[in-house]
Amino acid sequence: MAAASELRGGGASPPLLSRNRPLLGHLLELRRNPLALMGRLREECGEIGEFNLAGNRIVLFTGAEAQEAFFRAPDEQLDQAAAYPFMKPIFGEGVVFDATPEQRKQAMRNQSLRDKFMRGHAEVIAGEVERMIEGWGERGELDALDFFSELTLYTSSACLIGRQFRDELGPEYVSIFKDLERGTDAFAYVNPYLPIPALRARDRARKVLVAKIEAVFRRREADAAEYTDLFHILHNLKREDGTRRYSDDQITGMFISMMFAGHHTTSVTASWCLLELLMNPSWLGKTVAELDAIYADGREVSYQALREIPLLECALKETLRLHPPLVILMRKVLYDFHYKGWTVPAGHTAAVSPAISNRMSEYFPDAERFAPERYLPDREEDKQAFAWLPFGGGRHRCIGAAFAMMQLKTIFSILLSRYEFELAQPVESYGNDVSKMVVAVRQPCRVRYRRRKAMARSSQPAVAGSEPAAGDAFRIRVDLDLCQGHGVCASEAPTLFAVDRQTSKVTVLGTRPDPELRERAELAVRHCPTRALSIEE
Ligand code: HEM
Ligand code: SF4
Repeated sequence: MAAASELRGGGASPPLLSRNRPLLGHLLELRRNPLALMGRLREECGEIGEFNLAGNRIVLFTGAEAQEAFFRAPDEQLDQAAAYPFMKPIFGEGVVFDATPEQRKQAMRNQSLRDKFMRGHAEVIAGEVERMIEGWGERGELDALDFFSELTLYTSSACLIGRQFRDELGPEYVSIFKDLERGTDAFAYVNPYLPIPALRARDRARKVLVAKIEAVFRRREADAAEYTDLFHILHNLKREDGTRRYSDDQITGMFISMMFAGHHTTSVTASWCLLELLMNPSWLGKTVAELDAIYADGREVSYQALREIPLLECALKETLRLHPPLVILMRKVLYDFHYKGWTVPAGHTAAVSPAISNRMSEYFPDAERFAPERYLPDREEDKQAFAWLPFGGGRHRCIGAAFAMMQLKTIFSILLSRYEFELAQPVESYGNDVSKMVVAVRQPCRVRYRRRKAMARSSQPAVAGSEPAAGDAFRIRVDLDLCQGHGVCASEAPTLFAVDRQTSKVTVLGTRPDPELRERAELAVRHCPTRALSIEE
């Protein structure tokens, strides 16, 4: 049973999870299986409960209401950067970007994640998939995680850094990143410099990576070609006194932080999506039929991946629900945080778990089952505020979510149109690798592939997207706490929305929009990734 609460800072302490061992608390249990530990906490303590990592108190909030309170708290109270001390030796000493997190996100949005670059990215990704499967031949076998890790290493670097930098990379980088991920061992939460094999492997991998990046720049200095990728520009950036603005070590840190955000997450999701479809043949059949119908007219994958592919999207969302790559999101409490009758004092860590939330039967009936139909228009279970959390929520919700979905749609459009797949191991041998806080797919996770013969083509899409209807007078409401300013709404309805470059928040143009614009407004509401928009009659 959870320990009884004492009064603290005006409210009660959250209940402490049972089996709190002397000295290490719940650390070994977390290291063995973070998902089991957090599930036990939810069952025992309810919507708020505390576990102990060798003296570090982590308070887990579960359920949509508690999660909303967590996501809506200001950064000055719940600080994201300070909550991940184990990331520092992975990214490197000295803040890699020399800027606030907000400036960094803004830069990423401007450079690569803006809507207008998405078509170009989709073309690059389609090209990379083609390149990876070029030598596949008629049939073969592969490890899903190895394959998708290599593929997404190339796609992420080509889109976020630049084509020329991507061309410097080879499969050996996959194992370097795997070793860096070992730095998220639960022990590193308590002391990121412990002399244990996982953390030594992390440090070795980082050194190798810095040396490789240095070698890239040295080689480039010796040749006459002109380089324009992001890292080359940063490499050549000088201060007023002529010294370099960013060292190769810092550029390596930027590389690692980009890959941690976008590469691991996408490769794990792609692996699980393929495995889940193979374990659920009726959904595999529907998805393949949908793709065959959509591409029957020979349209470009890079065009379609930016548009709706309803059944594939349902399968991807369901994969993300059951296997969110980030299982715990944390914030350092800078001043006391009150929730209902409880107080989480400054110095503790507040946390939310997408893995727990996504499997709560209150929000997702039959929660353990792979059931992509739960996202079809009559159910839309991903639209429940602060319950479906693979991309987090609130002001720190993933800014790469639209890019990630587009990338996954591109990858599966090509793979499932060209090849048939089947599991190459017993079903029960596939599972999560929970040896690190960054959860992955347990290896081996092998699948067999065979080139498809004739494609059963039909000119009708399997499911048509529901068309929004024009309506009466209406008003648009914006929840500014949630708006991230990347402007999907302004792309859908440029006459209704503009994003303020200073504040990175959306402005609605006109208080009572023309009813003619209703359709566009509804599209903006539907595609706003943070659900910051709603329509009032
Ligand atoms: C399936 C793929 C992905 C998943 C499941 C995912 C998941 C997440 C989650 C859960 C968060 C919230 C972290 C928190 O609240 O502490 C997040 C934040 C973030 N993600 Fe993603 N992500 C994915 C892909 C990407 C990609 C492709 C990029 C970049 C291109 C990216 C860039 C970021 C950044 C920069 C943040 C920090 C946002 C902030 O702190 O405000 N992610 N992601
Ligand atoms: S309203 Fe939504 S789509 Fe528009 S800028 Fe804000 S978060 Fe992005």
